[in-house]
Amino acid sequence: MHAIQQSPVSSKTAASQSIHTSNQEESERIASFVMKNTLPTVVVQGLGFVGTAMVAALSIAQHSDGTPCFKVIGVDVDSEQGQRKVSKINAGKPAIVSSDHNIDQAIQCGWGEERLMATTLVDAYQYADVLVIDINLDVQKWYDKNELEYDVDLSIYRKAIESVAETIKENALVIVESTVPPGMTEEVIYPIFEAAFERRGLDILKLSLVHSYERVMPGANYLKSITDYYRVFAGMTPSASVKARRFFEQFINVDEYPLTELASPRASEISKVLENSYRAMNIAFIQEWTEFAEEAGVNLFEVLKAIKRRTTHSNIMAPGFGVGGYCLTKDSLLADWSKTNLFGSASHLEKSIAAVHTNDQMPLHSFGLLKKALGSLENTSIALLGVSYLNDVADTRSSPADTFYEACMAEGANMLLHDSFVSYWPERKLNVSNELEAIGAQNPEVVIFAVRHSEYLQIDAESLYRLFSSAKVIVDANNIISDEKASCLSGKNIRLIGVGKGHWKTLL
Ligand SMILES: NC(=O)c1ccc[n+]([C@@H]2O[C@H](COP(=O)([O-])OP(=O)(O)OC[C@H]3O[C@@H](n4cnc5c(N)ncnc54)[C@H](O)[C@@H]3O)[C@@H](O)[C@H]2O)c1
Repeated sequence: MHAIQQSPVSSKTAASQSIHTSNQEESERIASFVMKNTLPTVVVQGLGFVGTAMVAALSIAQHSDGTPCFKVIGVDVDSEQGQRKVSKINAGKPAIVSSDHNIDQAIQCGWGEERLMATTLVDAYQYADVLVIDINLDVQKWYDKNELEYDVDLSIYRKAIESVAETIKENALVIVESTVPPGMTEEVIYPIFEAAFERRGLDILKLSLVHSYERVMPGANYLKSITDYYRVFAGMTPSASVKARRFFEQFINVDEYPLTELASPRASEISKVLENSYRAMNIAFIQEWTEFAEEAGVNLFEVLKAIKRRTTHSNIMAPGFGVGGYCLTKDSLLADWSKTNLFGSASHLEKSIAAVHTNDQMPLHSFGLLKKALGSLENTSIALLGVSYLNDVADTRSSPADTFYEACMAEGANMLLHDSFVSYWPERKLNVSNELEAIGAQNPEVVIFAVRHSEYLQIDAESLYRLFSSAKVIVDANNIISDEKASCLSGKNIRLIGVGKGHWKTLL
Protein backbone atom coordinates (compact mmCIF):
# COMPACT_ATOMS: atom_id res chain seq x y z
CA MET A 1 0.00 0.00 0.00
CA HIS A 2 1.33 3.40 -0.95
CA ALA A 3 -0.14 6.82 -0.40
CA ILE A 4 -0.23 9.49 -3.07
CA GLN A 5 0.99 12.94 -2.06
CA GLN A 6 -1.50 15.74 -2.27
CA SER A 7 -1.62 17.23 -5.75
CA PRO A 8 -2.55 20.76 -6.80
CA VAL A 9 -6.29 21.24 -7.17
CA SER A 10 -7.38 21.28 -10.79
CA SER A 11 -9.79 23.90 -12.04
CA LYS A 12 -13.36 22.73 -12.26
CA THR A 13 -16.56 24.22 -13.46
CA ALA A 14 -19.04 25.25 -10.81
CA ALA A 15 -21.62 23.04 -12.49
CA SER A 16 -19.58 19.91 -11.88
CA GLN A 17 -19.43 20.64 -8.18
CA SER A 18 -23.07 21.39 -7.57
CA ILE A 19 -25.92 19.03 -6.86
CA HIS A 20 -27.51 17.89 -10.11
CA THR A 21 -30.42 19.77 -11.54
CA SER A 22 -31.90 16.72 -13.20
CA ASN A 23 -31.33 13.00 -13.02
CA GLN A 24 -30.44 12.99 -16.70
CA GLU A 25 -27.69 15.57 -16.21
CA GLU A 26 -26.40 13.82 -13.12
CA SER A 27 -26.42 10.50 -14.90
CA GLU A 28 -24.33 12.04 -17.68
CA ARG A 29 -21.97 13.57 -15.13
CA ILE A 30 -21.39 10.14 -13.57
CA ALA A 31 -20.89 8.50 -16.97
CA SER A 32 -18.37 11.12 -18.06
CA PHE A 33 -16.51 10.81 -14.74
CA VAL A 34 -16.24 7.06 -15.25
CA MET A 35 -15.03 7.49 -18.85
CA LYS A 36 -12.19 9.82 -17.82
CA ASN A 37 -9.75 6.97 -17.30
CA THR A 38 -9.54 3.20 -17.19
CA LEU A 39 -8.88 2.91 -13.45
CA PRO A 40 -11.14 0.45 -11.62
CA THR A 41 -14.20 2.20 -10.20
CA VAL A 42 -14.93 1.80 -6.49
CA VAL A 43 -18.35 2.97 -5.36
CA VAL A 44 -18.83 3.62 -1.64
CA GLN A 45 -22.47 3.50 -0.55
CA GLY A 46 -22.94 5.76 2.50
CA LEU A 47 -20.84 8.85 3.22
CA GLY A 48 -20.99 8.83 7.02
CA PHE A 49 -18.15 8.29 9.49
CA VAL A 50 -16.98 5.06 7.85
CA GLY A 51 -17.75 5.96 4.22
CA THR A 52 -15.89 9.28 4.46
CA ALA A 53 -12.75 7.60 5.75
CA MET A 54 -13.08 4.90 3.09
CA VAL A 55 -13.32 7.34 0.17
CA ALA A 56 -10.33 9.21 1.61
CA ALA A 57 -8.23 6.04 1.92
CA LEU A 58 -9.19 4.86 -1.58
CA SER A 59 -8.40 8.28 -3.06
CA ILE A 60 -4.75 8.10 -2.05
CA ALA A 61 -4.11 4.42 -2.80
CA GLN A 62 -1.38 3.98 -5.38
CA HIS A 63 0.64 1.22 -7.03
CA SER A 64 4.36 0.83 -6.43
CA ASP A 65 5.07 2.86 -9.62
CA GLY A 66 3.17 5.83 -8.18
CA THR A 67 0.07 5.52 -10.35
CA PRO A 68 -3.30 5.70 -8.59
CA CYS A 69 -5.25 2.52 -7.96
CA PHE A 70 -8.83 3.70 -8.21
CA LYS A 71 -11.38 6.25 -9.14
CA VAL A 72 -14.00 6.60 -6.44
CA ILE A 73 -17.69 7.50 -6.37
CA GLY A 74 -19.38 8.16 -3.03
CA VAL A 75 -23.15 7.74 -2.89
CA ASP A 76 -25.51 8.99 -0.22
CA VAL A 77 -29.27 9.35 0.04
CA ASP A 78 -31.25 12.11 -1.64
CA SER A 79 -32.13 13.87 1.62
CA GLU A 80 -31.00 17.26 2.94
CA GLN A 81 -28.21 15.60 4.97
CA GLY A 82 -27.23 13.25 2.15
CA GLN A 83 -27.06 16.13 -0.33
CA ARG A 84 -24.93 18.14 2.08
CA LYS A 85 -22.42 15.27 2.31
CA VAL A 86 -22.40 14.80 -1.46
CA SER A 87 -21.88 18.55 -2.03
CA LYS A 88 -18.95 18.56 0.35
CA ILE A 89 -17.17 15.73 -1.47
CA ASN A 90 -17.92 17.42 -4.79
CA ALA A 91 -16.20 20.53 -3.43
CA GLY A 92 -13.12 18.50 -2.41
CA LYS A 93 -13.99 18.43 1.30
CA PRO A 94 -14.74 15.56 3.70
CA ALA A 95 -18.39 14.80 4.37
CA ILE A 96 -17.61 14.54 8.11
CA VAL A 97 -15.80 17.13 10.25
CA SER A 98 -12.74 15.69 11.96
CA SER A 99 -9.53 16.77 13.62
CA ASP A 100 -7.49 14.57 11.25
CA HIS A 101 -6.26 16.79 8.39
CA ASN A 102 -4.99 13.74 6.51
CA ILE A 103 -8.60 13.03 5.64
CA ASP A 104 -8.97 16.53 4.14
CA GLN A 105 -5.75 16.10 2.15
CA ALA A 106 -6.68 12.66 0.86
CA ILE A 107 -10.05 13.89 -0.34
CA GLN A 108 -8.47 16.97 -1.91
CA CYS A 109 -6.05 14.64 -3.68
CA GLY A 110 -8.73 12.40 -5.22
CA TRP A 111 -10.99 15.30 -6.09
CA GLY A 112 -8.15 17.46 -7.46
CA GLU A 113 -7.10 14.67 -9.81
CA GLU A 114 -10.73 14.16 -10.85
CA ARG A 115 -10.75 10.64 -9.46
CA LEU A 116 -13.31 11.32 -6.75
CA MET A 117 -16.90 12.44 -7.03
CA ALA A 118 -20.13 11.94 -5.10
CA THR A 119 -23.76 11.65 -6.06
CA THR A 120 -27.19 10.80 -4.71
CA LEU A 121 -28.07 8.89 -7.85
CA VAL A 122 -28.12 5.09 -7.63
CA ASP A 123 -27.09 4.98 -11.33
CA ALA A 124 -23.54 5.02 -10.01
CA TYR A 125 -23.76 1.39 -8.85
CA GLN A 126 -23.77 0.08 -12.44
CA TYR A 127 -20.16 1.28 -12.89
CA ALA A 128 -18.76 -0.34 -9.74
CA ASP A 129 -15.97 -2.85 -10.12
CA VAL A 130 -15.96 -2.83 -6.33
CA LEU A 131 -18.91 -1.71 -4.24
CA VAL A 132 -18.35 -1.00 -0.56
CA ILE A 133 -21.48 -0.83 1.60
CA ASP A 134 -20.99 1.63 4.46
CA ILE A 135 -24.57 2.45 5.32
CA ASN A 136 -26.13 2.30 8.76
CA LEU A 137 -28.42 -0.41 10.10
CA ASP A 138 -30.09 1.18 13.10
CA VAL A 139 -31.55 -0.46 16.18
CA GLN A 140 -34.68 0.97 17.78
CA LYS A 141 -34.10 0.97 21.54
CA TRP A 142 -36.31 2.11 24.38
CA TYR A 143 -36.97 1.56 28.08
CA ASP A 144 -40.24 0.26 29.47
CA LYS A 145 -40.26 0.51 33.28
CA ASN A 146 -36.47 0.18 33.38
CA GLU A 147 -36.60 -2.85 31.02
CA LEU A 148 -34.47 -2.48 27.91
CA GLU A 149 -36.52 -3.17 24.80
CA TYR A 150 -35.31 -3.10 21.22
CA ASP A 151 -36.26 -3.87 17.68
CA VAL A 152 -34.34 -4.32 14.45
CA ASP A 153 -36.18 -3.37 11.27
CA LEU A 154 -34.36 -4.56 8.18
CA SER A 155 -36.70 -2.98 5.62
CA ILE A 156 -34.67 0.20 4.92
CA TYR A 157 -31.41 -1.72 4.75
CA ARG A 158 -32.96 -4.30 2.43
CA LYS A 159 -34.12 -1.54 0.07
CA ALA A 160 -30.60 -0.12 -0.02
CA ILE A 161 -29.20 -3.53 -0.98
CA GLU A 162 -31.96 -3.99 -3.57
CA SER A 163 -30.94 -0.72 -5.23
CA VAL A 164 -27.43 -2.15 -5.62
CA ALA A 165 -28.55 -5.63 -6.73
CA GLU A 166 -30.77 -4.14 -9.46
CA THR A 167 -27.92 -2.30 -11.18
CA ILE A 168 -24.56 -3.83 -10.24
CA LYS A 169 -22.33 -5.63 -12.78
CA GLU A 170 -22.39 -9.42 -12.71
CA ASN A 171 -18.72 -9.82 -11.79
CA ALA A 172 -18.44 -7.03 -9.22
CA LEU A 173 -16.86 -7.39 -5.79
CA VAL A 174 -19.40 -6.32 -3.15
CA ILE A 175 -18.09 -5.74 0.36
CA VAL A 176 -20.54 -5.32 3.22
CA GLU A 177 -18.82 -3.19 5.85
CA SER A 178 -21.92 -2.22 7.81
CA THR A 179 -22.28 -3.80 11.21
CA VAL A 180 -25.12 -6.23 10.67
CA PRO A 181 -26.76 -9.02 12.69
CA PRO A 182 -24.56 -12.12 12.24
CA GLY A 183 -25.93 -14.24 9.43
CA MET A 184 -27.21 -11.23 7.49
CA THR A 185 -24.79 -11.42 4.53
CA GLU A 186 -25.60 -15.08 3.90
CA GLU A 187 -29.27 -15.20 4.94
CA VAL A 188 -30.58 -11.79 3.83
CA ILE A 189 -28.16 -9.96 1.52
CA TYR A 190 -27.10 -12.85 -0.72
CA PRO A 191 -30.74 -13.90 -1.43
CA ILE A 192 -31.51 -10.31 -2.48
CA PHE A 193 -28.71 -10.50 -5.07
CA GLU A 194 -29.82 -13.98 -6.08
CA ALA A 195 -33.38 -12.85 -6.79
CA ALA A 196 -32.30 -9.69 -8.64
CA PHE A 197 -29.71 -11.55 -10.72
CA GLU A 198 -32.28 -14.16 -11.67
CA ARG A 199 -34.65 -11.41 -12.80
CA ARG A 200 -31.85 -9.71 -14.73
CA GLY A 201 -30.68 -12.98 -16.33
CA LEU A 202 -27.23 -12.73 -14.66
CA ASP A 203 -25.08 -15.49 -13.21
CA ILE A 204 -24.99 -15.14 -9.41
CA LEU A 205 -21.88 -17.36 -9.26
CA LYS A 206 -19.91 -14.54 -10.89
CA LEU A 207 -20.70 -12.10 -8.06
CA SER A 208 -18.15 -11.86 -5.25
CA LEU A 209 -19.85 -11.10 -1.93
CA VAL A 210 -17.80 -10.45 1.21
CA HIS A 211 -18.32 -9.24 4.75
CA SER A 212 -15.55 -7.20 6.27
CA TYR A 213 -15.22 -4.79 9.14
CA GLU A 214 -12.87 -1.96 9.93
CA ARG A 215 -12.33 -0.28 13.25
CA VAL A 216 -12.95 3.32 12.23
CA MET A 217 -12.06 5.73 14.99
CA PRO A 218 -12.96 9.35 14.34
CA GLY A 219 -10.29 11.57 15.90
CA ALA A 220 -6.63 12.34 15.30
CA ASN A 221 -5.97 8.97 13.58
CA TYR A 222 -9.19 8.81 11.63
CA LEU A 223 -7.59 8.01 8.23
CA LYS A 224 -5.05 5.64 9.73
CA SER A 225 -7.85 3.71 11.41
CA ILE A 226 -8.56 2.49 7.87
CA THR A 227 -5.12 2.39 6.24
CA ASP A 228 -2.98 1.37 9.23
CA TYR A 229 -5.10 -0.99 11.22
CA TYR A 230 -6.05 -4.65 11.34
CA ARG A 231 -8.97 -5.75 9.21
CA VAL A 232 -11.12 -8.87 9.31
CA PHE A 233 -12.98 -10.29 6.32
CA ALA A 234 -14.61 -13.40 4.88
CA GLY A 235 -16.03 -14.12 1.43
CA MET A 236 -19.07 -16.19 0.53
CA THR A 237 -16.71 -18.17 -1.74
CA PRO A 238 -12.93 -18.72 -1.82
CA SER A 239 -12.65 -16.65 -5.01
CA ALA A 240 -14.56 -13.76 -3.39
CA SER A 241 -12.07 -13.86 -0.51
CA VAL A 242 -9.13 -13.77 -2.94
CA LYS A 243 -10.59 -10.73 -4.74
CA ALA A 244 -11.26 -8.97 -1.44
CA ARG A 245 -7.73 -9.64 -0.22
CA ARG A 246 -6.26 -8.11 -3.40
CA PHE A 247 -8.50 -5.09 -3.00
CA PHE A 248 -7.58 -4.49 0.66
CA GLU A 249 -3.88 -4.87 -0.09
CA GLN A 250 -4.08 -1.80 -2.30
CA PHE A 251 -5.05 0.66 0.43
CA ILE A 252 -4.24 -1.03 3.76
CA ASN A 253 -0.71 -1.26 5.08
CA VAL A 254 -0.90 -5.07 5.25
CA ASP A 255 2.83 -5.50 5.87
CA GLU A 256 2.41 -4.03 9.32
CA TYR A 257 -1.26 -4.86 9.76
CA PRO A 258 -1.87 -8.27 8.16
CA LEU A 259 -5.40 -9.11 7.12
CA THR A 260 -7.36 -11.69 9.08
CA GLU A 261 -9.51 -13.97 6.96
CA LEU A 262 -12.26 -15.89 8.73
CA ALA A 263 -14.12 -18.97 7.53
CA SER A 264 -17.45 -17.38 6.69
CA PRO A 265 -19.22 -14.01 6.53
CA ARG A 266 -21.19 -14.95 9.64
CA ALA A 267 -17.90 -15.45 11.51
CA SER A 268 -16.75 -11.99 10.41
CA GLU A 269 -20.11 -10.53 11.45
CA ILE A 270 -19.93 -12.25 14.86
CA SER A 271 -16.36 -11.05 15.29
CA LYS A 272 -17.43 -7.42 14.86
CA VAL A 273 -20.32 -7.48 17.34
CA LEU A 274 -18.47 -9.64 19.85
CA GLU A 275 -15.51 -7.25 19.78
CA ASN A 276 -17.77 -4.31 20.61
CA SER A 277 -19.81 -6.29 23.14
CA TYR A 278 -16.59 -7.25 24.94
CA ARG A 279 -15.66 -3.60 25.27
CA ALA A 280 -19.17 -2.62 26.38
CA MET A 281 -19.12 -5.41 28.97
CA ASN A 282 -15.75 -4.29 30.33
CA ILE A 283 -17.04 -0.76 30.77
CA ALA A 284 -20.25 -1.94 32.44
CA PHE A 285 -18.30 -4.21 34.78
CA ILE A 286 -16.39 -1.31 36.26
CA GLN A 287 -19.54 0.67 37.13
CA GLU A 288 -20.42 -1.30 40.28
CA TRP A 289 -16.80 -1.02 41.40
CA THR A 290 -16.96 2.72 40.78
CA GLU A 291 -19.87 2.93 43.17
CA PHE A 292 -18.15 0.69 45.71
CA ALA A 293 -14.95 2.78 45.61
CA GLU A 294 -16.94 5.96 46.13
CA GLU A 295 -18.73 4.41 49.15
CA ALA A 296 -15.43 3.17 50.55
CA GLY A 297 -13.61 6.50 50.07
CA VAL A 298 -11.14 4.93 47.65
CA ASN A 299 -9.51 6.38 44.54
CA LEU A 300 -10.41 3.75 41.95
CA PHE A 301 -8.01 5.20 39.38
CA GLU A 302 -5.09 4.51 41.69
CA VAL A 303 -6.38 0.97 42.24
CA LEU A 304 -6.72 0.38 38.51
CA LYS A 305 -3.18 1.59 37.90
CA ALA A 306 -1.96 -1.02 40.37
CA ILE A 307 -4.03 -3.76 38.71
CA LYS A 308 -2.89 -2.82 35.20
CA ARG A 309 0.70 -3.72 36.05
CA ARG A 310 -0.49 -7.28 35.65
CA THR A 311 -0.36 -7.61 31.85
CA THR A 312 -3.35 -9.95 31.70
CA HIS A 313 -5.44 -7.11 33.16
CA SER A 314 -4.03 -4.19 31.18
CA ASN A 315 -7.27 -3.37 29.36
CA ILE A 316 -9.43 -3.02 32.47
CA MET A 317 -11.68 0.00 31.95
CA ALA A 318 -11.89 3.17 34.01
CA PRO A 319 -14.88 4.90 35.64
CA GLY A 320 -16.55 7.51 33.49
CA PHE A 321 -19.58 9.56 32.56
CA GLY A 322 -21.14 6.98 30.24
CA VAL A 323 -20.94 5.11 26.97
CA GLY A 324 -22.06 6.61 23.69
CA GLY A 325 -21.46 6.55 19.99
CA TYR A 326 -23.10 4.56 17.29
CA CYS A 327 -21.57 1.13 17.88
CA LEU A 328 -21.16 0.16 21.54
CA THR A 329 -24.72 1.19 22.36
CA LYS A 330 -26.32 -1.14 19.81
CA ASP A 331 -24.03 -3.91 18.57
CA SER A 332 -24.90 -6.41 21.34
CA LEU A 333 -28.54 -5.88 20.45
CA LEU A 334 -27.87 -6.70 16.78
CA ALA A 335 -26.16 -9.89 17.94
CA ASP A 336 -29.04 -10.81 20.24
CA TRP A 337 -31.55 -10.15 17.47
CA SER A 338 -29.60 -12.42 15.15
CA LYS A 339 -29.41 -15.22 17.74
CA THR A 340 -33.16 -15.38 18.14
CA ASN A 341 -34.35 -14.26 14.68
CA LEU A 342 -31.81 -15.67 12.23
CA PHE A 343 -30.64 -18.73 14.17
CA GLY A 344 -33.87 -19.58 16.00
CA SER A 345 -32.36 -19.61 19.48
CA ALA A 346 -34.66 -19.66 22.50
CA SER A 347 -32.09 -17.94 24.69
CA HIS A 348 -30.70 -14.41 24.69
CA LEU A 349 -27.26 -12.88 25.10
CA GLU A 350 -28.30 -11.85 28.58
CA LYS A 351 -24.98 -10.68 29.96
CA SER A 352 -24.25 -8.56 26.90
CA ILE A 353 -27.72 -7.01 27.01
CA ALA A 354 -27.33 -6.30 30.73
CA ALA A 355 -24.08 -4.49 29.95
CA VAL A 356 -25.83 -2.24 27.42
CA HIS A 357 -28.46 -1.51 30.06
CA THR A 358 -25.83 -0.64 32.69
CA ASN A 359 -23.97 1.60 30.26
CA ASP A 360 -27.15 3.40 29.19
CA GLN A 361 -27.89 4.23 32.84
CA MET A 362 -24.33 5.32 33.69
CA PRO A 363 -24.85 9.10 33.24
CA LEU A 364 -27.57 8.86 35.90
CA HIS A 365 -24.84 8.00 38.39
CA SER A 366 -23.26 11.47 37.92
CA PHE A 367 -26.75 12.91 38.11
CA GLY A 368 -27.37 11.02 41.36
CA LEU A 369 -24.13 12.35 42.88
CA LEU A 370 -25.25 15.85 42.04
CA LYS A 371 -28.70 15.34 43.52
CA LYS A 372 -27.17 13.93 46.67
CA ALA A 373 -24.92 16.98 46.98
CA LEU A 374 -27.55 19.64 46.28
CA GLY A 375 -30.91 18.06 47.06
CA SER A 376 -33.04 19.90 44.53
CA LEU A 377 -31.76 20.96 41.12
CA GLU A 378 -34.73 23.20 40.43
CA ASN A 379 -33.58 26.49 38.85
CA THR A 380 -29.97 25.45 39.36
CA SER A 381 -27.72 26.51 36.50
CA ILE A 382 -25.63 23.54 35.42
CA ALA A 383 -22.75 23.90 32.96
CA LEU A 384 -22.39 20.63 31.07
CA LEU A 385 -18.88 20.57 29.62
CA GLY A 386 -18.83 18.08 26.77
CA VAL A 387 -21.83 16.85 24.78
CA SER A 388 -20.01 14.59 22.30
CA TYR A 389 -19.65 10.95 23.24
CA LEU A 390 -15.86 10.87 22.98
CA ASN A 391 -12.86 13.07 23.64
CA ASP A 392 -11.77 15.38 20.83
CA VAL A 393 -14.48 14.32 18.38
CA ALA A 394 -17.63 16.10 17.26
CA ASP A 395 -19.85 13.00 17.21
CA THR A 396 -22.95 13.29 19.44
CA ARG A 397 -24.70 10.08 18.41
CA SER A 398 -26.11 8.27 21.47
CA SER A 399 -24.06 10.58 23.66
CA PRO A 400 -24.39 9.95 27.42
CA ALA A 401 -24.82 13.72 27.71
CA ASP A 402 -28.32 13.18 26.37
CA THR A 403 -29.47 11.07 29.33
CA PHE A 404 -27.85 13.44 31.81
CA TYR A 405 -29.38 16.49 30.11
CA GLU A 406 -32.85 14.93 30.15
CA ALA A 407 -32.61 14.03 33.85
CA CYS A 408 -31.48 17.57 34.77
CA MET A 409 -34.18 19.20 32.67
CA ALA A 410 -36.82 16.99 34.31
CA GLU A 411 -35.65 18.42 37.66
CA GLY A 412 -36.11 21.99 36.39
CA ALA A 413 -32.40 22.83 36.04
CA ASN A 414 -31.11 25.50 33.63
CA MET A 415 -28.54 23.93 31.36
CA LEU A 416 -25.52 25.70 29.88
CA LEU A 417 -23.82 23.65 27.17
CA HIS A 418 -20.19 23.69 26.11
CA ASP A 419 -18.14 21.48 23.85
CA SER A 420 -14.74 22.02 22.25
CA PHE A 421 -15.87 20.46 18.95
CA VAL A 422 -19.67 20.53 18.78
CA SER A 423 -21.46 23.82 18.08
CA TYR A 424 -24.84 22.29 17.33
CA TRP A 425 -26.29 19.26 19.07
CA PRO A 426 -28.49 17.69 16.36
CA GLU A 427 -30.24 15.10 18.56
CA ARG A 428 -31.40 17.89 20.90
CA LYS A 429 -31.57 20.62 18.25
CA LEU A 430 -29.59 22.92 20.54
CA ASN A 431 -26.72 25.32 20.01
CA VAL A 432 -23.61 24.56 22.03
CA SER A 433 -21.04 27.16 23.04
CA ASN A 434 -17.38 26.64 22.14
CA GLU A 435 -16.26 29.38 24.55
CA LEU A 436 -15.51 28.38 28.14
CA GLU A 437 -15.24 32.03 29.11
CA ALA A 438 -18.79 32.61 27.89
CA ILE A 439 -20.03 29.71 30.03
CA GLY A 440 -18.10 30.94 33.07
CA ALA A 441 -19.53 34.44 32.60
CA GLN A 442 -23.02 33.02 33.19
CA ASN A 443 -21.98 32.04 36.73
CA PRO A 444 -23.05 28.39 36.77
CA GLU A 445 -23.73 26.92 40.20
CA VAL A 446 -22.73 23.46 39.02
CA VAL A 447 -20.03 22.51 36.54
CA ILE A 448 -19.76 18.98 35.24
CA PHE A 449 -16.77 17.84 33.22
CA ALA A 450 -18.26 15.05 31.13
CA VAL A 451 -15.82 14.44 28.26
CA ARG A 452 -12.01 14.24 28.30
CA HIS A 453 -11.54 16.90 25.62
CA SER A 454 -7.92 18.14 25.52
CA GLU A 455 -9.13 21.68 26.21
CA TYR A 456 -10.52 20.61 29.60
CA LEU A 457 -7.43 18.62 30.53
CA GLN A 458 -5.29 21.69 29.85
CA ILE A 459 -7.12 24.05 32.23
CA ASP A 460 -4.85 24.77 35.19
CA ALA A 461 -6.18 25.11 38.75
CA GLU A 462 -6.00 28.89 38.73
CA SER A 463 -7.96 29.20 35.47
CA LEU A 464 -10.45 26.63 36.70
CA TYR A 465 -11.19 28.76 39.74
CA ARG A 466 -11.19 32.01 37.74
CA LEU A 467 -13.64 30.55 35.23
CA PHE A 468 -15.95 28.89 37.71
CA SER A 469 -15.62 30.72 41.03
CA SER A 470 -19.43 30.93 41.13
CA ALA A 471 -19.74 27.12 41.33
CA LYS A 472 -21.00 25.41 44.46
CA VAL A 473 -20.23 22.00 43.01
CA ILE A 474 -17.83 20.76 40.35
CA VAL A 475 -18.30 17.19 39.18
CA ASP A 476 -15.40 15.47 37.46
CA ALA A 477 -17.17 12.63 35.67
CA ASN A 478 -14.25 11.53 33.52
CA ASN A 479 -10.99 11.87 35.44
CA ILE A 480 -10.23 15.31 34.04
CA ILE A 481 -9.17 17.13 37.22
CA SER A 482 -5.99 15.82 38.81
CA ASP A 483 -5.62 15.48 42.59
CA GLU A 484 -3.12 18.31 42.48
CA LYS A 485 -5.62 20.68 40.85
CA ALA A 486 -8.34 19.44 43.18
CA SER A 487 -6.27 20.26 46.26
CA CYS A 488 -5.71 23.82 44.92
CA LEU A 489 -9.49 24.25 44.90
CA SER A 490 -9.99 23.05 48.46
CA GLY A 491 -10.88 25.79 50.93
CA LYS A 492 -12.53 27.83 48.16
CA ASN A 493 -16.09 26.83 49.01
CA ILE A 494 -16.44 24.61 45.97
CA ARG A 495 -17.54 21.05 46.60
CA LEU A 496 -15.59 18.68 44.35
CA ILE A 497 -17.09 15.34 43.39
CA GLY A 498 -15.33 12.80 41.22
CA VAL A 499 -16.77 9.70 39.61
CA GLY A 500 -14.63 6.85 40.94
CA LYS A 501 -12.82 9.29 43.26
CA GLY A 502 -14.01 8.24 46.68
CA HIS A 503 -10.94 9.88 48.21
CA TRP A 504 -12.30 13.33 47.31
CA LYS A 505 -14.96 12.89 49.99
CA THR A 506 -12.63 14.57 52.43
CA LEU A 507 -11.96 17.59 50.18
CA LEU A 508 -13.93 20.82 50.58
N1 LIG B 1 -18.51 4.88 13.14
C1 LIG B 1 -17.66 3.90 13.38
O1 LIG B 1 -16.64 4.14 13.99
C2 LIG B 1 -17.92 2.50 12.87
C3 LIG B 1 -16.92 1.60 12.99
C4 LIG B 1 -17.10 0.36 12.47
C5 LIG B 1 -18.28 0.03 11.86
N2 LIG B 1 -19.30 0.90 11.78
C6 LIG B 1 -20.51 0.49 11.10
O2 LIG B 1 -20.48 1.01 9.77
C7 LIG B 1 -21.78 1.42 9.36
C8 LIG B 1 -21.78 2.88 9.02
O3 LIG B 1 -21.45 3.60 10.19
P1 LIG B 1 -21.27 5.16 10.19
O4 LIG B 1 -20.77 5.51 11.53
O5 LIG B 1 -20.53 5.59 8.99
O6 LIG B 1 -22.81 5.60 10.03
P2 LIG B 1 -23.35 7.01 9.56
O7 LIG B 1 -24.75 7.09 10.01
O8 LIG B 1 -22.39 8.09 9.93
O9 LIG B 1 -23.29 6.90 7.98
C9 LIG B 1 -24.14 6.13 7.21
C10 LIG B 1 -24.39 6.89 5.93
O10 LIG B 1 -25.08 6.04 5.03
C11 LIG B 1 -26.04 6.81 4.35
N3 LIG B 1 -27.07 5.95 3.78
C12 LIG B 1 -28.08 5.30 4.41
N4 LIG B 1 -28.81 4.61 3.52
C13 LIG B 1 -28.23 4.82 2.31
C14 LIG B 1 -28.54 4.38 1.00
N5 LIG B 1 -29.57 3.61 0.75
N6 LIG B 1 -27.74 4.81 -0.01
C15 LIG B 1 -26.69 5.61 0.21
N7 LIG B 1 -26.36 6.06 1.43
C16 LIG B 1 -27.13 5.66 2.45
C17 LIG B 1 -26.56 7.75 5.42
O11 LIG B 1 -27.24 8.86 4.88
C18 LIG B 1 -25.26 8.13 6.12
O12 LIG B 1 -24.64 9.25 5.52
C19 LIG B 1 -22.70 1.06 10.52
O13 LIG B 1 -23.26 -0.20 10.30
C20 LIG B 1 -21.78 1.03 11.72
O14 LIG B 1 -22.27 0.23 12.76
C21 LIG B 1 -19.13 2.16 12.25
